[in-house]
Amino acid sequence: MAGYACTSFANFLLILLAASFHINSMSAGRVLSTPKTYAEFIRTSCSTTTYPKLCYSSLSVQASKIQNSPRLLANAALNVTLASARSTSTMMQKLSQSHGMKPREVSAMQDCVEELSDTVDELRQSIGEMGEAKGSNTKLMIGDIQTWVSAALTDESTCSDGFDGNTMNGNVKSAVRKQILKIAHLTSNALALINNYASLHG
Ligand SMILES: *[C@@H]1O[C@H](CO)[C@@H](O)[C@H](O)[C@H]1NC(C)=O
Repeated sequence: MAGYACTSFANFLLILLAASFHINSMSAGRVLSTPKTYAEFIRTSCSTTTYPKLCYSSLSVQASKIQNSPRLLANAALNVTLASARSTSTMMQKLSQSHGMKPREVSAMQDCVEELSDTVDELRQSIGEMGEAKGSNTKLMIGDIQTWVSAALTDESTCSDGFDGNTMNGNVKSAVRKQILKIAHLTSNALALINNYASLHG
């Protein structure tokens, strides 16, 4: 009888140990699988945008910051778009000052730099407002943001149109158009993610 009690107590301890190990490994598993879940949230959200691959590749690196928040996702998309618009603007400013550019090319570049600078302003305003777009005035602020981001899209396409003529050097033209197109796609995705966020606030 005493022997039986002893074994069953040992069994009880073993079960306890196993249970606590199981619980530990479960919580460890949860910690490990968290980034994957966040990445999945980004993938699912990006699938509603027009350029889902670009959306995912540009935002998944920030998964741990975005977590499962539609607001942070839209905010991160605006950040990425702003960074891209800024660096393109700098690149074009340098290009327009380089030697061998025809006056028409220089003028198209300068127009584009100006349009990009408007884009940068509109994105910066949107990002500023996004930080405040919580609580009661969310809807109003999201309306502003949608207006600014749409204006940014228009500026980008105006810039691109300036390069439509045949006078421009082929390489420069295609490099610039490619870059502007990327910004436009990032902007379009950001707008879709903002609309997603807005739809949660009916
Ligand atoms: C966006 O950029 C701002 C300013 O650089 C930063 O404070 C914020 O954390 C960024 N947001 C996201 C979601 O990446």
